[in-house]
Amino acid sequence: MLDAAALQRATLPHLRAFGTPGAGAEVRLEVLPEVASTNDRAAAMAAEGAPEGSLVVAGRQTGGRGRLGRGWASPEGGLYLSLVLRPDEAMLRRLPATLLAGVAVAEAADRFLTGVRADLKWPNDVHVGGKKLAGILGELSKDARGHVLVLGVGINVATELSALPEDVRGLATSLAHLRGGSAAPAHADVLVAFLERFTAHWLSVKRGGGATILAMASGRMPLLGKPIRVRLPGRVLEGVASGLNATGGLVVEVRGEDGQPRRETVLAGEVEEVRGA
Ligand code: BTN
Repeated sequence: MLDAAALQRATLPHLRAFGTPGAGAEVRLEVLPEVASTNDRAAAMAAEGAPEGSLVVAGRQTGGRGRLGRGWASPEGGLYLSLVLRPDEAMLRRLPATLLAGVAVAEAADRFLTGVRADLKWPNDVHVGGKKLAGILGELSKDARGHVLVLGVGINVATELSALPEDVRGLATSLAHLRGGSAAPAHADVLVAFLERFTAHWLSVKRGGGATILAMASGRMPLLGKPIRVRLPGRVLEGVASGLNATGGLVVEVRGEDGQPRRETVLAGEVEEVRGA
C-alpha cells in the first residue's frame, strides 16, 4: 500500500522545481491505490489544465500500457507513475524525455543496489544484469496551451516476480530481488531519487546541456559497439550499434548491398544483440 502522505511530503518540492515560482497554477499530485493507467489519468489531468510537474502515482494498474501497443503488468509492489510535461518546440527537438527518464531511473536504481549497475537498452528500458527493471512510455499530444507529454514510468521495486505473467517473468527483475536479503526500498525513496535526477536532467536540457546527458546515456549502454538487430516497422536492420546522435537516435553501421559501409540512424524500434555474429 502506498503511503500517500509520505509521498506528498517527499515529492512536492521536486515537482515544484519544474516551474517558475509564482508563475502559474500549483502542480497537482494524485496518489491512488489503483488506477487503470497512470498515463491515462495524467492525460486527463493535463486536459483539465494541470501544469508541468503534475504527477500521478499508483499502487497498481489494471490496464497498464507498454511500448508498441503492449500491456504492462502492474501488480502491487511496483511503482507506477506518470508526469505531465509541457515541452516547447525547442525542447521537443532536443533529447527525448524518455531517454532522460531512462538515465534518471538507472541513476536512482543504483542508489539502492550494490555490486551491480543499471544499464539502458535503447531506447529507454532499464536493465540490471540483463533483466528488465523498469520501462518508460512517453505519449505526446497537443492542447490549447501547446504540447503535452505524459511520461509514464513503471519500476519493479518490490514486485513479486511470480505475480508477473509467465512470458515476462524470466526476463524481469526487481530492486527487492536484486537486494537479496536486504529490505526493499520504500516507494517514496525510489520516487524521490528518480525525480531528483529527472528534474536535474530536464532543466539541464532546457539550458542546452544535452551533451552531458548523452554521454551519461551512452556510458550505460552495453549494446554500443556490438552487432545488433533492430526491428523497425516493415523491416529488420542489422549492423553494429555505434553510438547516439545529438537527438538520442541510435546510429547503426550497416553494410549496404554494394558492400560499402554506411550509417543509418533509427529513432524507435526493438533492439537485440546478435550473438555469435
Ligand atoms: C515498456 O517498457 O513497454 C514501457 C512500460 C511503461 C509502463 C508505465 S507504468 C506507468 C505508466 N502507465 C502506463 O500505463 N504505462 C506506464
